[in-house]
Amino acid sequence: MDVTLRRSSLAARACGLLAVGVAEGSARLSGAALALDLATKGALTRALAAGDFKGRASDVALVYPEGVKAKRVLLVGLGPAAKLDEKRIRLAAATASRRARELGAGSLALALHTAATLDDATAQAAAEGAVLGHHRYAAYKSDAKSALTRVELLVEQAAPRGVAAAVRAGAIRGEAVCLARDLASTPGQDLTPIQLAARAKDVAKRAGAKLTVFDVAAMERLGMGCVLAVGRGSVNPPRFIVLDRPADAAPRGKKPHTIVIIGKGVTFDTGGYSLKPRDGMGKMKYDMSGSAAVLGLFASLPALGKLPVRVVGLIPSAENMVSDAAYKPGDVIRAIDGTTIEVTNTDAEGRLLLADALGYAKRLSPETVIDLATLTGAMAIALGRHAAGLYSRDDLLASELQDAGEATGERLWRMPLWDEFRTEMRSEVADLVNSDEKSEGGSNKAAAFLEHFAADMHWAHLDIASTAWTYTERPDASRGPNAFGVRLLTRWLEQRVRG
Ligand code: BES
Ligand code: MN
Ligand code: ZN
Repeated sequence: MDVTLRRSSLAARACGLLAVGVAEGSARLSGAALALDLATKGALTRALAAGDFKGRASDVALVYPEGVKAKRVLLVGLGPAAKLDEKRIRLAAATASRRARELGAGSLALALHTAATLDDATAQAAAEGAVLGHHRYAAYKSDAKSALTRVELLVEQAAPRGVAAAVRAGAIRGEAVCLARDLASTPGQDLTPIQLAARAKDVAKRAGAKLTVFDVAAMERLGMGCVLAVGRGSVNPPRFIVLDRPADAAPRGKKPHTIVIIGKGVTFDTGGYSLKPRDGMGKMKYDMSGSAAVLGLFASLPALGKLPVRVVGLIPSAENMVSDAAYKPGDVIRAIDGTTIEVTNTDAEGRLLLADALGYAKRLSPETVIDLATLTGAMAIALGRHAAGLYSRDDLLASELQDAGEATGERLWRMPLWDEFRTEMRSEVADLVNSDEKSEGGSNKAAAFLEHFAADMHWAHLDIASTAWTYTERPDASRGPNAFGVRLLTRWLEQRVRG
């Protein structure tokens, strides 16, 4: 989808749908709303007077006024003007592009501002929202609805310098989320670890990153016993995928810091011999949502400009299957760092993949390591679906991540890493078990297991099993995998490197 900034009056621009944001409860109209009202001889005033549209954040009204070249006009509520922020603008733009798609409008013009005061953040949020609202996973739909081909952000006066670039950046960031959603929505049959590596190759290329893919022989040499064990039961062999984006400019005389982002890449999780129940197993195609978030971050990097840090993405990828070759409960495996693990539950496979990835990360002497994983069903038991779990001993990193999530609408809730949980993960026959027999505190114990491998690193773990699937349609996300974490990671990295 093509998203551009265009200078034109609201009345003069021909398009399938013209969307105008209207703030709630203002006695006098202003900005784009006022311009529209004047051009249409009061279409907006009439809608407000009828009382069916009040400008609340969820309000929309479709009108067909004279006086504009647009085929139709959508009034989109922005909520109270005093509370208008990037989030609201993103959602308003998403609401408009979603409606434009449903209407088969063909082209959309967003009139968010008439003044020359349009700032970069607003323009970026609008562009991003327009891309997100429009997205649908339609790869297997025979009757895929006609997509929007063009989205324009209309400004009446010349916009300040930088705004056009902000629009492009917003579109790139939105498209990166769509890419991650498409990956997580792809059925396991069509996204095996090898296919995931092929997709990573495209992303790496566009991000200026070097891609390395370790196959089974390479992982054997490295001693990645965990990834190998999880992947052993499938005809689709496991892969360990590394994206390495060097720093553009290091601080004078210093080696640039390395930031490592790890994403769980289970392309399908049957549970293995500790088989999952049949209900809802099909959802487990999205068990690579953590890795999709990593790829989404890399796809967003071109929007961040020059980076003073090296960014490394690590994706341990496997298909967790049942077969005569599969790993079994009771097996003892050895992680890359030498730790031995008694596999008490083959369905606790994600933490095994992450163990090898964390061990590999340590060799890169990273400044910060963040992992994302659809790790435990227990996460949604603990938090419901309105936050992902954040585990970290590093208060600064934790608050940075929480702030980034607050800004992007990807909420994180801090969870405990108490020593007692680690004690519960000790094994009688090996160093650790991958799952203890009790189900209480399931996500905490998974995090405690990971902490064994992350020790001595500045590390945060995000358990996104509670949030990575959208159950009720939102303006900016349809039902299904939603690429939770992409925008959060991008925002966090942006703040980290720009301050
Ligand atoms: N991929 C699942 C976790 C999951 C469950 C994600 C539901 C999204 C929705 C993970 O591999 C898993 O199976 N975890 C087990 C852990 C248990 C065996 C300790 C779980 O949550 O039941
Ligand atoms: Mn599992
Ligand atoms: Zn899993």
